[in-house]
Amino acid sequence: MTPPPAVPAGFAARLIDWQRRCGRHDLPWQGTRDPYRVWLSEIMLQQTQVGTVLDYYPRFLARFPDVHVLAAAPGDEVMALWSGLGYYSRARNLHRCAQVVVSEHGGRFPAQARLLQTLPGIGASTAAAIAAFCFGERISILDGNVRRVLARVLAFEEDLARAGPQQRLWALAQALLPEQPAAPDMVAYTQGLMDLGATVCTRSRPRCPQCPLHGLCQARERGAVGDFPVRSRTLKRQSLSWWLLLWRRPAMTGWQLALQRRPATGIWAGLYCPPVFASEDELRAAVAASRRDTLQALPAMSHSLTHREMRLHPLLLDADGEAPDHALPQGLRWVAAQELGSVGLPAPVRQLLQRL
Ligand code: ADE
Repeated sequence: MTPPPAVPAGFAARLIDWQRRCGRHDLPWQGTRDPYRVWLSEIMLQQTQVGTVLDYYPRFLARFPDVHVLAAAPGDEVMALWSGLGYYSRARNLHRCAQVVVSEHGGRFPAQARLLQTLPGIGASTAAAIAAFCFGERISILDGNVRRVLARVLAFEEDLARAGPQQRLWALAQALLPEQPAAPDMVAYTQGLMDLGATVCTRSRPRCPQCPLHGLCQARERGAVGDFPVRSRTLKRQSLSWWLLLWRRPAMTGWQLALQRRPATGIWAGLYCPPVFASEDELRAAVAASRRDTLQALPAMSHSLTHREMRLHPLLLDADGEAPDHALPQGLRWVAAQELGSVGLPAPVRQLLQRL
């Protein structure tokens, strides 16, 4: 087996110096050590671009300014403000986490990564980010961007699709931390890792000449930056087609749409959605025969989830809606067009409805 890579001296000092001179300093979740604000930003930033979070974060904070307000809020309202950010299990865990912080920790987030990690929705890297930013704990984050940076700097040859190598990289990440840091160092260091991964050591076309770790990077020395990180398994999304029944009826002011809450697990869990069918035949069979001719196919749209490539086929049914048609799924709720903004809808469904 190849020996573990040597940890380069000067790594932390260079990174901290670079972050202070060239890193990001004006993001709305920086400049605070309030764990509620930092936690909220870190959860929103999981699998989501900074640009998108810049839009959602202030709105969410305006409605839920602290952990007590969030814990006491109705779940539907939390989902509605999360609507469009995707990965909705994050929103459900966020709400549960706030409730646990209030009921079991007196409304104060625990001050150590080890304890933060026991809370709903907080994984090891997120716990480390909160502990480093808010409490100056000497602990390393290791999200996807940071794995890439470290795999390149260390020319880490093991397969990061596997758990063992991930653990070994984490141990190396711990060895790279600044020694005996003062808390501000841990803030600059942690943000530096994030900033470097997002702006310099990018997945494709990294800007090596601008990198503060230029002289230390072992992948670069070998002329092999593109070979790291090593990953054997690549994600292949399965395709999935859904037919959506957009059942609309006139109302006093405009129109109403029949929506149904998605089951508690699976795609778009807990969100509201028009009734879903696995085929067009199934959808047609659920609509009374006398109305089938009025079904109008709207343009299909594609939507990517982590493990799925979805194709959505909307069919519009304009009806009086007096009695539910036979075989339509249970639990339909009529929602007025002007209320759609305050209901938790998946982003592509919201786009579809905006076209109506
Ligand atoms: N991605 C995850 N956490 C982040 C942060 N604090 N700032 C910028 N991007 C991030």
